Amino acid sequence: MHQEILANTGEVSTAVLMPSSSSVAAGRDPDALARDTEARMTDDERFSMLYSLMVRVFGTSAREPRVPADVPAVAGYVKGVPRLGIPPLKLADASLGLRHTDGPDDCATALPAGLAIGATFNPSLARTIGNLIGKEARARDFNVALGGGINLVRDVRNGRNFEYISEDPLLSGLIGAEIVSGTQEEGVIAVLKHVSLNASETNKFFLDAIIDPAAHRESDLLAFQIAIEKSQPGALMGAYNLVNGAYACGNRAILQETIKDAMGFKGWVMSDWLAVYGWEFALSGLDQHAGAQLDKQEWFNGPLRQAYEQGKVPKERISDMVRRMLRSYYAIGIDQQRAAAPVDFAAHNAVALQAAREGIVLLKNEGQALPLAAGRQRIAIIGGYAQTGVLSGDGSSQVMPTSGYAAQVPLRSHPLLGTTVMRLFGSSPLAALRKQLPEAIIEFDCGAHIADAVAMAKRADIVVMFAYRHEAERFDSPDMTLPFGQDALIEAVANENRNLIVVLQTGNPVAMPWRDKARAIVQAWFPGQLGAQAIAEVLTGKINPSGRLPISFPFDVGQTPHPTLPGSDVELGTPIKVHYHEGAEVGYRWFAKTGRQPLFGFGHGLSYATFAYRDLEVVDAESLTVAFTVTNTGARQGDDVPQVYLTDAAGDWRMRLLGFERVSLRPGESARVRITADPRLLACFQSELGCWRMEAGQYRIALGRSAQDLELSIELCLEEREFGR
Ligand code: BGC
Repeated sequence: MHQEILANTGEVSTAVLMPSSSSVAAGRDPDALARDTEARMTDDERFSMLYSLMVRVFGTSAREPRVPADVPAVAGYVKGVPRLGIPPLKLADASLGLRHTDGPDDCATALPAGLAIGATFNPSLARTIGNLIGKEARARDFNVALGGGINLVRDVRNGRNFEYISEDPLLSGLIGAEIVSGTQEEGVIAVLKHVSLNASETNKFFLDAIIDPAAHRESDLLAFQIAIEKSQPGALMGAYNLVNGAYACGNRAILQETIKDAMGFKGWVMSDWLAVYGWEFALSGLDQHAGAQLDKQEWFNGPLRQAYEQGKVPKERISDMVRRMLRSYYAIGIDQQRAAAPVDFAAHNAVALQAAREGIVLLKNEGQALPLAAGRQRIAIIGGYAQTGVLSGDGSSQVMPTSGYAAQVPLRSHPLLGTTVMRLFGSSPLAALRKQLPEAIIEFDCGAHIADAVAMAKRADIVVMFAYRHEAERFDSPDMTLPFGQDALIEAVANENRNLIVVLQTGNPVAMPWRDKARAIVQAWFPGQLGAQAIAEVLTGKINPSGRLPISFPFDVGQTPHPTLPGSDVELGTPIKVHYHEGAEVGYRWFAKTGRQPLFGFGHGLSYATFAYRDLEVVDAESLTVAFTVTNTGARQGDDVPQVYLTDAAGDWRMRLLGFERVSLRPGESARVRITADPRLLACFQSELGCWRMEAGQYRIALGRSAQDLELSIELCLEEREFGR
């Protein structure tokens, strides 16, 4: 059977500033409404909107007295102006579901890690995830969802990578856009964060990220640009670090000149919490001071007002800040809210399950060790709290799942940075595997003693080891090892029983020194509240794995641009400069540039089916459209994610993901896939001219299974082009 699929994944609309769907639906002009309302406001009212208050005083259980008592302990509260129908803002963290706030019943659907969502390569699933976040926010009367972390993964030790989407601007931009659109469709303002270059957690408040501005536009800022254009988020959030000498939240070159002036962003820019150092940040493009009482001063409250009264801040700038906020309120319709429908948690469970299923990546499967056969066999399950639940990452993205935590294990405790707690979501992979394999004799050992684990492995037909590494905001990992001696445990078990399958729950790549001894390796990330079921289904073949790596897995940090973790060699609080000398050549681009082979490349992921590619052709050179056919040559239904890359640009080496498509095919079925590339991915940014430029010449475009595994390629002759934005 032949199926025509018109894939738009690589295409970025040139009509970049279309109003969001909710404003179209409401038939309103948000700019005119914002202008009109702002003109009728008093200065007191204007200034009351320019800062948010954290509801709970940081690090204590005390509440901020200025916040009304009925507001739950969300990250931020902004006063409304009732006489003008301006609602108060309740800003809730929502990266991987709604963050728990106060009460025992404030649980929410806990989604898989951002990297798992990135690994789905499925923008339409990301939209559904956005809808889920929007619905759960609305049901709790929160009108701003602080999700949308799309910082590019530049360092595989970053403790917060699990929350982000990928190392690639196109993939991060497209997935981020769909989450934003899905959330905003539900009438909740969505945020993209953190602009920009918050690439590691260590010493991040004192880290000056030095980067060539053109390379910045071609990498991290391009991810934001793609997402802004496609989804029109109501707000952006700045980062903690400095960029090229100026704090990100007060960085005129980024906020005003790039995001607002060049990219045409119409919403408002809020700071991160504890990231503002003066009222002057308002002159650089920051519109709102978030969690204002945490900083040395409530800069956009008293000090900005004073500066304004002394004539140091133009009235027009204050009006602009307010109008930008109001525009988002009206565009997304938070001023017109009806009673929210009760949340259908069963339906949301199904979304969390689907995301986990599609995000799990089968890294290795020697001799078809997986799927596990049904039948009477002895299986040893070892380690990784598999008897209890699955891991989640800690920090502002932590969600309490609808069934509550299965366990909480305190880990780090730092005098300034606080504590981290490893929280497990039930049910357990052990129970899920027993359910999927009712005839098997399944034993479990927690892996505390190598001798016990080895003894159990000896009497088993198959060993499934669960390995984990907890990750958290504010902390990076020092290297790529597994903690608590798990590498040695796996090695010892592997030496006893070669029929070994390893399931990794980590928020980053790990080195896997035992990789040659394991027959199969499964990357499950932090798989969310239905993760155990998804893992068991993938291991037993009920679900055919289809995730693809959204980040490159290096052999070791020596292969990456920064072998030493930035900030790890100084006291916390020491100002440091980190030269992102790799520029735009992040992740797979860096591997291509240096000619190194990673352990597993960006885009890699195996299936229980096989897929063949043929007939790659240029459909239309002008619109940069190519097409190819993908066929399922295996014996079972499966999803594939063919990827199109640029490898050469007019004689210059250049590696860029241009597009991808998730295709679902039955055995023998084919699909013709069409990918239209964003011209910016074939161009270089010219900082002096503020435009993109494609040189005339031959361009090579390749089709592959990963950035490391390109199969077909084709040449394209292009004329010189120069274009804005
Ligand atoms: C994080 C943000 C988060 C904010 C509010 C900060 O520490 O960096 O991503 O939205 O806290 O909780």
